[in-house]
Amino acid sequence: MKIQPFELERFFAKYEFSAPYLLGSSDCESFSIQEILDLEPGAENAFKKCWLGYTESAGHPDLRQAISNIYESCESQHVLVHSGAEEAIFIFMNVMLKPDDHVIVQDPCYQSLYQIAHDLGCRVSKWTTYEENGWELDLDQLETLIEEDTKAVIINQPHNPTGYLMSAEKQQQLIDILQKRNLLLFSDEVYRELEHDPKDRLPAACDLYDNAVSIGVMSKTYGLAGLRIGWAVTQNEQIFKEMATFKDYTSICNSAPSEYLALVALMHRQRIVDRNLKLTTGNLAVLNQFFHHHSNQFNWKPPIAGSIAFPSITAHSGVEDFCVSLVQESGVLLIPSPYFQYGDRHFRIGFGRRNLPECVEQLDRYLKKHPIV
Ligand SMILES: Cc1ncc(COP(=O)(O)O)c(C=O)c1O
Repeated sequence: MKIQPFELERFFAKYEFSAPYLLGSSDCESFSIQEILDLEPGAENAFKKCWLGYTESAGHPDLRQAISNIYESCESQHVLVHSGAEEAIFIFMNVMLKPDDHVIVQDPCYQSLYQIAHDLGCRVSKWTTYEENGWELDLDQLETLIEEDTKAVIINQPHNPTGYLMSAEKQQQLIDILQKRNLLLFSDEVYRELEHDPKDRLPAACDLYDNAVSIGVMSKTYGLAGLRIGWAVTQNEQIFKEMATFKDYTSICNSAPSEYLALVALMHRQRIVDRNLKLTTGNLAVLNQFFHHHSNQFNWKPPIAGSIAFPSITAHSGVEDFCVSLVQESGVLLIPSPYFQYGDRHFRIGFGRRNLPECVEQLDRYLKKHPIV
């Protein structure tokens, strides 16, 4: 397979380690290794003794157990640990899809959810959502997209880049539609547990439906992207087996120190989630105020979950020029919608990091000099 460049990652690569004000990142504030080890008595000594040989391909049994605690009916044997969520996406698409299969992908989306299927030769239909409708997924539209040879539906809840989260009723209706036709559901849930009101949390798709794969990761809600630990969870033995077999050609197994640190972090999962949720909802209040003051220049509706949103400029186009000029002049990085293959009016803004108020101040200063309208 010859795969197209990952536009978002290429744009990030240009600025991520030079721009001082990262306001487009999707992950929450991170931690140092010391902070993670301090969570658990004795962890520092155990970490120093961590054996640096190959690890179990499916993941350390203790880590698989800790991950399975996030789920209701799935157990540790249903958990396959990966090198980030990205590896899980890549492997799922490679083992479950073949050229000419038809798949349906929520749009806009994180590019790999669309691109890998497309570049494998699948016919990909976009299940497009719109800001005017609150980014709502329309099940009637889905019914019209399903074809005879549709193989899978790919969703991301809570959603990158919009912060949309469907209702539990809609999630069940979606699963009913897929179950009737025996379709696969690939459910990217990397922002789960970051619902601003925990009552909105959806059940994991893998707990509800045998033909579902849920993916999670340490990177987003827990802020531990540098560990590169993610996972796929499914009750479907065939999918599990095929993904595990393919992994022998990608990472083979996971990093031993990362597995240990992920385990310690998950033992204290609620504490980490509470910190990042507090940070995220506090930052959202700052953004609400900012967009209220600039309502002539931006359309804004606060999201209900996750650490990102996808507002638009009130002008008809030109968001990429605005973002490039902003980062070059002020060092504030936002991600323009062309990098989500979604027109030229929206941009992703991230609010999981501690320095958000400072970033917003810089953005405000730039807009005083260069108002968009
Ligand atoms: C929706 C979604 N899925 C998967 C990933 C990949 O996560 P990771 O980089 O931790 O592998 C991301 C990262 O931005 C994402 O936003």
